[in-house]
This record gives sequence, C-alpha cells and structure tokens, in this order.
Amino acid sequence: MKVSVIGAGNVGSSCAEYIAISKIANEVILLDIKKGLSEGKALDLTQTSSTLGFDTVIKGVTNDYKSTEDSDVVVITSGIPRKPGMTREELIGINAGIVNSVTENILKFSPNTIIIVVSNPMDTMTYLALKSNKLEKNKVIGMGGALDSSRFKTYLSQALNKPQSDIHAMVIGGHGDTTMIPLIRLASYNGIPITNLLSTEKQKEIVSSTMIGGATLTKLLGTSAWYAPGASVSYLVDSILNNKKKIIPCSVYLEGQYGLNDICIGVPCIIGRKGIDEIIDLNLVSSEKNKLEESAKAIATMNKSLKNFI
Ligand code: LAC
Repeated sequence: MKVSVIGAGNVGSSCAEYIAISKIANEVILLDIKKGLSEGKALDLTQTSSTLGFDTVIKGVTNDYKSTEDSDVVVITSGIPRKPGMTREELIGINAGIVNSVTENILKFSPNTIIIVVSNPMDTMTYLALKSNKLEKNKVIGMGGALDSSRFKTYLSQALNKPQSDIHAMVIGGHGDTTMIPLIRLASYNGIPITNLLSTEKQKEIVSSTMIGGATLTKLLGTSAWYAPGASVSYLVDSILNNKKKIIPCSVYLEGQYGLNDICIGVPCIIGRKGIDEIIDLNLVSSEKNKLEESAKAIATMNKSLKNFI
C-alpha cells in the first residue's frame, strides 16, 4: 500500500512518522515544494526504521508528483498554518490556491486515490478538492473531526481521571473555534453517560476547551499543532487501508443527511477501503441540530469565496 503526504512541514512529517511506525503502508512519499525539506525528513525518519522496527520505505521528493503515482491514499497538508491569534478561516485566501493546484497534480498520477484533507480552513478545503475536480464524494475526507474528537477525549479523560481508551466521544460540525460541536450528551465512560459523572459546569468547560483546542496549542507552540493531527491522519489511513470500518467523525459531502446539502461538514462516518463507506445519521436533539445548522451556515459563507475555483 502506498500513501503520499503532500507538505513536509510539522503536520506532514508527523503523518509520515505515525503511518510508518504503525506499519500501515509499505511506502510513504513525502512531497514538499521546499528543496531538501522532504528529502531530509524522509532520511531522518528512515534512520528510525531499525530501532523502531518498521520496514516502510519513506521517500522524500521536491515537487515531483510522478513519485506519488498510484497512491492508495494522498494526504494534503500543504498551505500555511495559523499563527497565534489567527483563526483557521483567515488562511483561506492563500490555502485555496495551494490546495487547488496540489489536488490537480495528485489526480494526474493517482486518479482513483482517496484524498484526506488537513489544510485549513479544513471543511472549505475539503469542499474545494471535491468540487473543483468533480470527485466521487466517498473519496474526499476532511480529517478535522477525528482530531477534535481526540482533543475532546483528552479533556474528558483528564476531568474524570480515567484512561482515554475507556472514553467514547465525538465532535461534529465545522473544524473551527466557533463551529465545532462536541457532543457531550453522547459522550460516555465505557457506556456510562458522561453527563451522569460530571457537573454541568465542568461539562461546559470541557466543551469550550475542546472548541479552542487548536488555538490553545497555537498559543503555546507559536504555530499549529502536529502530533495529534498526524496521529488522527494515521488513524484514518489505517481504517481505509485495512478496511477497519471505524466510526470516525470526518468532514464529508452531504446530500440531504442532517437536512444539509452541498456542503462538507463533520459528521460520524464509517471509514473503509472505499473511503467513506457510510454516513451515520445521528438522531440529534433540537439544540444540537440548531448548532449544526449554524455551523453549516458559517461554512457555506466561507465556501462562497471559492467562486474562482469551482
Ligand atoms: C489543528 C489544526 C491542524 O486544529 O487545524 O491543530
């Protein structure tokens, strides 16, 4: 199995690292426009192979899309990351042009690949990749919900002082500080509703911390996070290549589900060898439905700025 990761910055190289360590693919191509960057990162990662015990071949290339030929999955991380104080939405002008040309180049050599979009604003970039190339809707997946859900589980596990592996929780809606919807009502500690275990105040605090999870890290690090984004991508790639059919909240194209149309937004999906196998239509209560509608409105407004591309 072959995975290409476009963009060898922090997030891209972290994706390559986790995919290799998890032994999900035989070959990982890391591509960047900056000469030497992906070659250097690929060589450095390759030198961890014997000590960490994986045999994945990792190759770094400078803008050579031919090397990505016949990829089973391509991950797009290209574009600029946000700086402290910036929203993901502010990146749209620069990142739309980048994501558009990257997608065209990928498809020249891997027309049937499954694309995972990481670049921000992620829901709008997912929509752009899908629409500008008229791709099949099951083959373009925005990874934000996977990441936001892992942040949600972290905060829940810390509040409960219980292991993350016993926490089940998901975030739907947009991958934005004001558009994401951590579904606290459905969160559980091994089947026990979280709402029975934590005060309403604590629940609210966790929901807020989750929503600004990325911004908190940007403030601490001076740039966007990379470990959890890389791990979330690797989790998705594993479910695709090994047909694991995991339920993962992802930004996907909706046609009537949740009463929404012509938009990519985060909802729980079953992820397998075809990409999106199924979209799970959750029975949301009215307050959750309203939030999802608001979130969709904000994303749709942002999508309007793509008019030069689609
Ligand atoms: C984050 C970026 C990847 O939330 O959107 O960290």
